[in-house]
Amino acid sequence: MSLNVFVTGGASGIGYGIAEYLAKDGHHIVVADINPTAAKSAAQQLTDAGYSAQAVDVDVCNAEQVAALPSRLGGTKVDVLVNNAGVQHVARIEDFPAEKWQQLINIMLVGPALLTQTFLPDMRSRNFGRIINIGSIHSLVASPFKSAYVAAKHGLLGFAKTVALETGDCNVTINTLCPAYVKTPLVEKQIAAQAKENNLTEEQVVNEIMLQPMPKKAFISVEELGATAQFLISEHARNITGQTMVLDGGWVAR
Ligand SMILES: NC(=O)c1ccc[n+]([C@@H]2O[C@H](COP(=O)([O-])OP(=O)(O)OC[C@H]3O[C@@H](n4cnc5c(N)ncnc54)[C@H](O)[C@@H]3O)[C@@H](O)[C@H]2O)c1
Repeated sequence: MSLNVFVTGGASGIGYGIAEYLAKDGHHIVVADINPTAAKSAAQQLTDAGYSAQAVDVDVCNAEQVAALPSRLGGTKVDVLVNNAGVQHVARIEDFPAEKWQQLINIMLVGPALLTQTFLPDMRSRNFGRIINIGSIHSLVASPFKSAYVAAKHGLLGFAKTVALETGDCNVTINTLCPAYVKTPLVEKQIAAQAKENNLTEEQVVNEIMLQPMPKKAFISVEELGATAQFLISEHARNITGQTMVLDGGWVAR
């Protein structure tokens, strides 16, 4: 069955990786991103490869823009919502700009709530929907200098559990994928920022900070996330809801 999959932050990194994986599986992709040029070129890249895709620009924390999405998408009903858009800011709490703290919470916690509010009624009326949040290993553990990110990602788990209870009466599920580090533009920026913050080389940040807590000592790939999403949107995953799927190379087994 071909589903319409709406991926926020779909123009880059994990969002694009999941979009491409599910496009290859025959689903129609809506690449939604705050960067309109990047969204268009990501959708174009998918259609050039012979897959089905369209682009829409949206700031996930702008309530009016999010509420307008169903009419802007025309006839495309959203079956699968992937709440993926995210940003990072690395600073000790004493130096963390208040507006940055607010922005991270807005993008990674308020945004998923607004998008769920927007698409859930139609999913409910058609008795099918899958919501996949992209959390993080930082939904489960903390790292220094990431207070806003860690708070937003922990919050996402509570949000998913609550919506899972509220959607028990229909074939809608909501789950959160929690990867450890994935080599994307977001992480490339963090490597540089952490090197500066900790006075280390970028290679030291990768080996001594990022991969250090992972017994598998490897970055998680976007294909691993795509394949997990593929399972979660299947009919066989209809009773998996409110769950946290951790792809962490064994990080939290310690
Ligand atoms: N890369 C990792 O190691 C890693 C690990 C765990 C979780 N995550 C999470 O995965 C998600 C994607 O991260 P990534 O590494 O692919 O990042 P990325 O920087 O490559 O991509 C993020 C995308 O989100 C878009 N975006 C940012 N703010 C937006 C907004 N307000 N509205 C709409 N789109 C917006 C950006 O334009 C960009 O295209 C994030 O939620 C991140 O927290 C990443």
